[in-house]
Amino acid sequence: MNKEVALVTGAGRGIGLATTQRLLDDGFHVVMVDLNAEPLATNAAALLEAGGSVEHHAISITDRAAVSALIASLPRLDVLVNNAAVFWDGKFDDVCEDDFKKMYEVNVIGAFVMAQEAIKVMKRGARIVNVASRAYLAGYAHSPYITSKAGAVGLTRGMAFDLAERGIFVNAIAPGLIETDMFRSLTPERQQELIAKQPTKEVGQPEDIANGIAFFASPRTRNVTGQILTLDGGRSMGISIY
Ligand SMILES: NC(=O)c1ccc[n+]([C@@H]2O[C@H](COP(=O)([O-])OP(=O)(O)OC[C@H]3O[C@@H](n4cnc5c(N)ncnc54)[C@H](O)[C@@H]3O)[C@@H](O)[C@H]2O)c1
Repeated sequence: MNKEVALVTGAGRGIGLATTQRLLDDGFHVVMVDLNAEPLATNAAALLEAGGSVEHHAISITDRAAVSALIASLPRLDVLVNNAAVFWDGKFDDVCEDDFKKMYEVNVIGAFVMAQEAIKVMKRGARIVNVASRAYLAGYAHSPYITSKAGAVGLTRGMAFDLAERGIFVNAIAPGLIETDMFRSLTPERQQELIAKQPTKEVGQPEDIANGIAFFASPRTRNVTGQILTLDGGRSMGISIY
């Protein structure tokens, strides 16, 4: 295949779907992966109908056998976007150990499995983009998510060192509040509370994150690795003391 191939996880909706569209606009063939088969198939069909070079696969990023078989079937793999994740809110006292493990299994181990299988076929100049979250810095009432996203940042930095000499670049995006089903799963009160803390008083759009991902995914972005790009309406600047 002449086109560069990008694999996007969690591509059935939200940020993953916007990223798929953006990478199609940038000339990639996009391999869409999502656990949730129905929206994935519908959205992939719409993109195909519009002339997009896409294929879709309903698998879990935690299923190593399925991931390995899919990656082995691709003609080439230039970009991996590790975007799929799960999220839920909850006070620390109420966090249940099984839920904590489940979140870590998808948000960290899933990304690790994807990357470890991807690098078996990736060549010099390939790029991996992990979608972390601004939440890795801190936040109320979602300690398992914060832990998993700090894990995504750690994975990015660790992989960046290990893969640098092979010419595989690994970077991460840390989104702030983005208007997707994940954000809409919060109560309206919690949504308003979080928006009020944004310096911009705005919730970001999936396309804002897709643009950042496209920067790291671009073949023109050379010699950049181990970086975390925070796209959060200025929230991570901290609290103004004036
Ligand atoms: N929306 C936000 O406010 C926000 C903020 C910071 C970071 N993020 C991060 O951005 C990324 C995308 O978030 P979103 O808001 O688009 O979420 P979303 O919930 O709308 O989409 C996530 C997608 O991942 C898929 N998925 C979940 N588990 C999977 C698995 N095991 N295998 C394959 N696919 C799986 C889901 O089916 C879903 O389609 C996530 O990593 C999320 O943590 C989102």
